[in-house]
Amino acid sequence: MKNIIIDCDPGIDDALALMLALRSPEINIIGITVVCGNVPALLGAQNTLKILQLMKRTDIPVYIGAERPLIRPLVTAQDTHGADGLGESGYPDVADIKIHEHASDFIIRCLRHYRQLSIIALGPLTNLALALKKEPEAFGNLHQLITMGGSFRSHGNSSPVAEFNYWVDPHSAKYVYEQLHRPVIMVGLDVTRKIVLTPDLLELIRHFDNDLSRFIISITKFYVNFHWKQERILGCVINDPLAVAVCIAPDLCSGFDSYVTVETEGLCMGQTIVDSGGFWKYPSNAHVLTQTKAGVFMSMFLERLFPKETELIRKFIKGGTPT
Ligand code: BDR
Ligand code: CA
Repeated sequence: MKNIIIDCDPGIDDALALMLALRSPEINIIGITVVCGNVPALLGAQNTLKILQLMKRTDIPVYIGAERPLIRPLVTAQDTHGADGLGESGYPDVADIKIHEHASDFIIRCLRHYRQLSIIALGPLTNLALALKKEPEAFGNLHQLITMGGSFRSHGNSSPVAEFNYWVDPHSAKYVYEQLHRPVIMVGLDVTRKIVLTPDLLELIRHFDNDLSRFIISITKFYVNFHWKQERILGCVINDPLAVAVCIAPDLCSGFDSYVTVETEGLCMGQTIVDSGGFWKYPSNAHVLTQTKAGVFMSMFLERLFPKETELIRKFIKGGTPT
Protein backbone atom coordinates (compact mmCIF):
# COMPACT_ATOMS: atom_id res chain seq x y z
CA MET A 1 0.00 0.00 0.00
CA LYS A 2 1.37 3.43 -0.97
CA ASN A 3 1.38 6.18 1.67
CA ILE A 4 0.11 9.34 0.03
CA ILE A 5 -0.84 12.95 0.62
CA ILE A 6 -3.41 14.48 -1.71
CA ASP A 7 -2.97 18.20 -2.27
CA CYS A 8 -6.11 19.66 -3.84
CA ASP A 9 -8.40 22.63 -4.46
CA PRO A 10 -11.94 21.18 -4.58
CA GLY A 11 -13.28 21.86 -7.19
CA ILE A 12 -15.72 19.45 -8.86
CA ASP A 13 -13.15 17.17 -10.47
CA ASP A 14 -11.02 17.28 -7.29
CA ALA A 15 -14.10 16.02 -5.42
CA LEU A 16 -14.40 13.09 -7.86
CA ALA A 17 -10.67 12.39 -7.52
CA LEU A 18 -10.95 12.30 -3.73
CA MET A 19 -13.84 9.84 -4.01
CA LEU A 20 -11.78 7.56 -6.24
CA ALA A 21 -8.81 7.74 -3.88
CA LEU A 22 -10.99 6.97 -0.87
CA ARG A 23 -12.27 3.84 -2.63
CA SER A 24 -8.82 2.58 -3.63
CA PRO A 25 -7.27 -0.05 -1.36
CA GLU A 26 -3.85 0.39 -3.01
CA ILE A 27 -3.33 3.73 -1.27
CA ASN A 28 -3.23 4.91 2.32
CA ILE A 29 -4.24 8.58 2.53
CA ILE A 30 -2.25 10.10 5.39
CA GLY A 31 -3.77 13.52 5.00
CA ILE A 32 -5.37 15.92 2.55
CA THR A 33 -3.82 19.35 2.08
CA VAL A 34 -5.74 22.18 0.51
CA VAL A 35 -4.39 24.96 -1.66
CA CYS A 36 -6.11 27.99 -3.15
CA GLY A 37 -6.99 27.55 -6.80
CA ASN A 38 -10.48 26.76 -8.02
CA VAL A 39 -11.68 28.43 -4.81
CA PRO A 40 -10.01 30.11 -1.80
CA ALA A 41 -8.29 27.53 0.43
CA LEU A 42 -10.76 27.81 3.32
CA LEU A 43 -13.66 27.03 0.99
CA GLY A 44 -11.66 24.18 -0.54
CA ALA A 45 -11.16 22.76 2.96
CA GLN A 46 -14.91 22.94 3.62
CA ASN A 47 -15.51 21.08 0.37
CA THR A 48 -12.94 18.45 1.31
CA LEU A 49 -14.77 17.89 4.58
CA LYS A 50 -18.06 17.51 2.71
CA ILE A 51 -16.54 14.74 0.61
CA LEU A 52 -15.02 13.04 3.64
CA GLN A 53 -18.36 13.17 5.40
CA LEU A 54 -20.18 11.74 2.39
CA MET A 55 -17.62 8.95 2.13
CA LYS A 56 -17.65 8.40 5.94
CA ARG A 57 -13.90 9.08 6.23
CA THR A 58 -13.75 12.11 8.51
CA ASP A 59 -10.89 10.33 10.31
CA ILE A 60 -8.53 11.63 7.58
CA PRO A 61 -6.98 14.97 8.65
CA VAL A 62 -7.32 18.05 6.44
CA TYR A 63 -4.72 20.84 6.37
CA ILE A 64 -5.20 24.30 4.94
CA GLY A 65 -2.30 25.74 3.00
CA ALA A 66 -1.58 28.72 0.80
CA GLU A 67 -4.30 31.36 0.51
CA ARG A 68 -2.52 32.96 -2.44
CA PRO A 69 -0.07 31.95 -5.16
CA LEU A 70 3.64 32.53 -4.56
CA ILE A 71 3.83 35.88 -6.39
CA ARG A 72 0.70 36.54 -8.41
CA PRO A 73 -2.74 37.47 -7.02
CA LEU A 74 -5.23 34.61 -6.79
CA VAL A 75 -7.62 34.12 -9.71
CA THR A 76 -10.15 31.42 -8.84
CA ALA A 77 -12.18 29.25 -11.25
CA GLN A 78 -15.59 29.84 -9.72
CA ASP A 79 -16.94 30.43 -13.23
CA THR A 80 -16.12 26.77 -13.93
CA HIS A 81 -16.83 25.15 -10.56
CA GLY A 82 -19.52 27.44 -9.13
CA ALA A 83 -19.35 30.03 -6.35
CA ASP A 84 -19.09 27.25 -3.75
CA GLY A 85 -16.62 25.20 -5.82
CA LEU A 86 -19.02 22.26 -5.92
CA GLY A 87 -21.33 23.36 -8.71
CA GLU A 88 -23.58 25.40 -6.39
CA SER A 89 -25.04 22.09 -5.24
CA GLY A 90 -26.04 23.52 -1.87
CA TYR A 91 -24.72 20.74 0.37
CA PRO A 92 -24.49 22.13 3.93
CA ASP A 93 -21.11 23.02 5.40
CA VAL A 94 -19.52 20.65 7.86
CA ALA A 95 -19.81 22.44 11.18
CA ASP A 96 -16.73 21.33 13.04
CA ILE A 97 -13.71 22.53 11.06
CA LYS A 98 -10.48 21.94 12.96
CA ILE A 99 -7.50 24.02 11.88
CA HIS A 100 -4.34 21.94 12.01
CA GLU A 101 -0.80 23.08 11.18
CA HIS A 102 -0.12 24.72 7.79
CA ALA A 103 -0.33 22.29 4.87
CA SER A 104 3.31 22.83 3.86
CA ASP A 105 4.51 22.01 7.40
CA PHE A 106 2.40 18.86 7.38
CA ILE A 107 3.95 17.85 4.05
CA ILE A 108 7.46 18.37 5.46
CA ARG A 109 6.63 16.45 8.66
CA CYS A 110 5.29 13.49 6.66
CA LEU A 111 8.26 13.50 4.29
CA ARG A 112 10.56 13.29 7.31
CA HIS A 113 8.54 10.52 8.92
CA TYR A 114 7.76 8.21 6.00
CA ARG A 115 10.68 6.79 4.05
CA GLN A 116 8.53 6.53 0.91
CA LEU A 117 5.78 9.05 0.45
CA SER A 118 3.89 9.91 -2.72
CA ILE A 119 2.11 13.18 -3.32
CA ILE A 120 -0.78 13.60 -5.73
CA ALA A 121 -1.20 17.30 -6.51
CA LEU A 122 -4.54 18.24 -8.03
CA GLY A 123 -4.28 22.02 -7.80
CA PRO A 124 -1.69 24.79 -8.18
CA LEU A 125 1.70 23.72 -6.81
CA THR A 126 1.93 26.49 -4.17
CA ASN A 127 1.90 24.23 -1.07
CA LEU A 128 4.55 22.02 -2.63
CA ALA A 129 6.76 24.96 -3.61
CA LEU A 130 6.50 26.42 -0.10
CA ALA A 131 7.48 23.09 1.47
CA LEU A 132 10.33 22.60 -1.01
CA LYS A 133 11.67 26.11 -0.35
CA LYS A 134 11.47 25.58 3.40
CA GLU A 135 13.05 22.14 3.61
CA PRO A 136 14.44 20.74 0.36
CA GLU A 137 16.27 17.87 2.13
CA ALA A 138 12.97 16.39 3.32
CA PHE A 139 12.09 15.71 -0.33
CA GLY A 140 14.81 13.04 -0.40
CA ASN A 141 12.10 10.72 0.96
CA LEU A 142 9.63 11.57 -1.79
CA HIS A 143 8.71 8.48 -3.77
CA GLN A 144 6.67 10.17 -6.47
CA LEU A 145 5.04 13.50 -7.28
CA ILE A 146 2.09 13.12 -9.61
CA THR A 147 0.69 16.48 -10.69
CA MET A 148 -2.40 17.27 -12.73
CA GLY A 149 -1.26 20.25 -14.72
CA GLY A 150 0.29 21.60 -17.87
CA SER A 151 0.00 20.39 -21.42
CA PHE A 152 2.33 19.24 -24.17
CA ARG A 153 0.41 19.29 -27.48
CA SER A 154 -3.09 20.06 -26.24
CA HIS A 155 -4.49 23.60 -26.22
CA GLY A 156 -4.83 25.40 -22.91
CA ASN A 157 -7.93 25.86 -20.79
CA SER A 158 -6.98 29.20 -19.18
CA SER A 159 -5.30 30.81 -22.17
CA PRO A 160 -4.61 29.46 -25.65
CA VAL A 161 -1.55 27.69 -24.24
CA ALA A 162 -1.87 27.37 -20.46
CA GLU A 163 -3.58 24.88 -18.19
CA PHE A 164 -5.34 26.31 -15.11
CA ASN A 165 -3.24 24.87 -12.23
CA TYR A 166 0.06 26.14 -13.63
CA TRP A 167 -1.50 29.34 -14.99
CA VAL A 168 -2.76 30.32 -11.51
CA ASP A 169 0.64 29.91 -9.90
CA PRO A 170 3.29 29.64 -12.63
CA HIS A 171 6.11 30.54 -10.23
CA SER A 172 5.38 27.58 -7.96
CA ALA A 173 5.04 25.22 -10.90
CA LYS A 174 8.38 26.37 -12.33
CA TYR A 175 10.05 26.11 -8.93
CA VAL A 176 8.84 22.56 -8.35
CA TYR A 177 9.88 21.32 -11.81
CA GLU A 178 13.29 22.95 -11.57
CA GLN A 179 14.12 22.31 -7.92
CA LEU A 180 12.63 18.93 -7.03
CA HIS A 181 15.57 17.04 -8.57
CA ARG A 182 13.50 13.98 -9.37
CA PRO A 183 11.09 13.34 -12.23
CA VAL A 184 7.68 14.91 -11.84
CA ILE A 185 4.86 12.86 -13.35
CA MET A 186 2.95 15.35 -15.48
CA VAL A 187 -0.69 14.42 -15.98
CA GLY A 188 -1.55 17.23 -18.35
CA LEU A 189 -4.43 18.14 -20.63
CA ASP A 190 -3.10 15.81 -23.36
CA VAL A 191 -4.39 12.87 -21.34
CA THR A 192 -7.07 14.40 -19.10
CA ARG A 193 -9.06 15.87 -22.01
CA LYS A 194 -9.78 12.25 -22.99
CA ILE A 195 -11.53 11.60 -19.68
CA VAL A 196 -15.09 12.75 -20.25
CA LEU A 197 -18.18 12.06 -18.21
CA THR A 198 -20.52 11.97 -21.21
CA PRO A 199 -24.27 12.64 -20.93
CA ASP A 200 -24.99 8.90 -21.23
CA LEU A 201 -22.56 8.06 -18.41
CA LEU A 202 -24.13 10.78 -16.27
CA GLU A 203 -27.54 9.29 -17.03
CA LEU A 204 -26.25 5.86 -16.01
CA ILE A 205 -24.93 7.32 -12.73
CA ARG A 206 -28.31 9.01 -12.14
CA HIS A 207 -30.03 5.63 -12.45
CA PHE A 208 -27.84 4.18 -9.67
CA ASP A 209 -29.90 6.43 -7.42
CA ASN A 210 -27.98 6.43 -4.14
CA ASP A 211 -26.32 9.17 -2.01
CA LEU A 212 -23.13 9.08 -4.02
CA SER A 213 -24.82 9.15 -7.42
CA ARG A 214 -27.10 12.02 -6.34
CA PHE A 215 -24.08 13.96 -5.12
CA ILE A 216 -22.19 13.44 -8.40
CA ILE A 217 -25.19 14.47 -10.48
CA SER A 218 -25.77 17.59 -8.42
CA ILE A 219 -22.14 18.79 -8.46
CA THR A 220 -21.58 18.10 -12.19
CA LYS A 221 -24.63 19.99 -13.55
CA PHE A 222 -22.89 23.38 -13.36
CA TYR A 223 -19.69 21.87 -14.80
CA VAL A 224 -21.59 20.35 -17.74
CA ASN A 225 -23.18 23.73 -18.54
CA PHE A 226 -19.77 25.39 -18.37
CA HIS A 227 -18.28 22.85 -20.79
CA TRP A 228 -21.05 23.45 -23.29
CA LYS A 229 -20.73 27.25 -23.08
CA GLN A 230 -16.94 27.30 -23.15
CA GLU A 231 -15.90 24.48 -25.48
CA ARG A 232 -19.11 23.02 -26.96
CA ILE A 233 -18.40 19.74 -25.19
CA LEU A 234 -21.32 17.49 -24.20
CA GLY A 235 -20.71 16.29 -20.65
CA CYS A 236 -17.63 17.31 -18.68
CA VAL A 237 -13.90 16.65 -18.71
CA ILE A 238 -12.80 15.30 -15.34
CA ASN A 239 -9.09 15.99 -15.08
CA ASP A 240 -8.09 15.25 -11.51
CA PRO A 241 -9.31 11.64 -11.07
CA LEU A 242 -6.83 10.54 -13.75
CA ALA A 243 -3.92 11.68 -11.56
CA VAL A 244 -5.21 9.45 -8.75
CA ALA A 245 -5.65 6.58 -11.22
CA VAL A 246 -2.03 6.97 -12.39
CA CYS A 247 -0.91 6.44 -8.79
CA ILE A 248 -3.06 3.31 -8.47
CA ALA A 249 -2.47 1.84 -11.94
CA PRO A 250 0.58 3.41 -13.63
CA ASP A 251 0.03 1.43 -16.86
CA LEU A 252 -3.21 3.35 -17.55
CA CYS A 253 -1.08 6.06 -19.18
CA SER A 254 2.17 6.26 -21.08
CA GLY A 255 4.44 9.07 -22.20
CA PHE A 256 8.07 10.10 -22.39
CA ASP A 257 10.81 11.61 -20.24
CA SER A 258 11.73 15.22 -20.92
CA TYR A 259 13.01 18.43 -19.46
CA VAL A 260 10.05 20.65 -18.58
CA THR A 261 9.82 24.18 -17.28
CA VAL A 262 7.03 26.71 -16.94
CA GLU A 263 6.72 30.24 -18.36
CA THR A 264 5.96 32.76 -15.62
CA GLU A 265 5.35 35.97 -17.57
CA GLY A 266 3.50 37.51 -20.47
CA LEU A 267 1.16 36.03 -23.05
CA CYS A 268 2.36 32.47 -22.48
CA MET A 269 2.22 32.63 -18.68
CA GLY A 270 1.63 29.18 -17.21
CA GLN A 271 2.57 27.30 -20.37
CA THR A 272 4.63 24.17 -19.88
CA ILE A 273 7.71 24.26 -22.10
CA VAL A 274 8.38 20.60 -22.87
CA ASP A 275 11.81 20.17 -24.48
CA SER A 276 10.77 16.96 -26.25
CA GLY A 277 13.54 17.24 -28.83
CA GLY A 278 16.25 17.67 -26.21
CA PHE A 279 17.18 21.08 -27.61
CA TRP A 280 18.62 22.32 -24.32
CA LYS A 281 20.38 19.01 -23.54
CA TYR A 282 19.29 19.26 -19.91
CA PRO A 283 18.63 16.03 -18.01
CA SER A 284 14.94 15.20 -17.95
CA ASN A 285 13.01 16.31 -14.87
CA ALA A 286 9.58 15.03 -15.88
CA HIS A 287 7.65 12.11 -17.25
CA VAL A 288 5.09 13.66 -19.60
CA LEU A 289 1.99 11.54 -20.15
CA THR A 290 0.51 11.61 -23.65
CA GLN A 291 -1.59 8.44 -24.00
CA THR A 292 -4.31 6.99 -21.81
CA LYS A 293 -6.77 4.11 -21.91
CA ALA A 294 -9.86 6.22 -21.32
CA GLY A 295 -12.34 3.31 -21.30
CA VAL A 296 -10.30 1.32 -18.82
CA PHE A 297 -10.02 4.38 -16.60
CA MET A 298 -13.75 5.13 -16.72
CA SER A 299 -14.65 1.55 -15.96
CA MET A 300 -12.30 1.46 -12.99
CA PHE A 301 -13.52 4.84 -11.73
CA LEU A 302 -17.20 3.95 -11.84
CA GLU A 303 -16.78 0.39 -10.57
CA ARG A 304 -14.93 1.66 -7.53
CA LEU A 305 -17.60 4.25 -6.76
CA PHE A 306 -20.50 1.90 -7.53
CA PRO A 307 -19.23 -1.65 -6.93
CA LYS A 308 -22.74 -3.12 -6.93
CA GLU A 309 -23.31 -1.86 -10.48
CA THR A 310 -20.24 -3.45 -12.07
CA GLU A 311 -22.22 -5.47 -14.59
CA LEU A 312 -24.13 -2.43 -15.89
CA ILE A 313 -20.98 -0.30 -15.99
CA ARG A 314 -19.17 -2.92 -18.12
CA LYS A 315 -22.17 -3.13 -20.43
CA PHE A 316 -22.09 0.60 -21.14
CA ILE A 317 -18.36 1.30 -21.33
CA LYS A 318 -16.63 0.32 -24.54
CA GLY A 319 -13.06 -0.94 -24.20
CA GLY A 320 -13.38 -0.80 -20.46
CA THR A 321 -11.82 -4.07 -19.35
CA PRO A 322 -10.44 -3.12 -15.98
CA THR A 323 -6.78 -3.69 -15.11
C1 BDR B 1 -7.41 21.70 -13.46
O1 BDR B 1 -7.92 22.98 -13.15
C2 BDR B 1 -8.95 22.90 -12.22
O2 BDR B 1 -10.03 23.72 -12.56
C3 BDR B 1 -9.34 21.45 -12.13
O3 BDR B 1 -9.73 21.13 -10.80
C4 BDR B 1 -8.09 20.72 -12.52
O4 BDR B 1 -7.24 20.46 -11.43
C5 BDR B 1 -7.65 21.43 -14.93
O5 BDR B 1 -6.99 22.36 -15.70
CA1 CA C 1 -8.03 20.70 -9.14
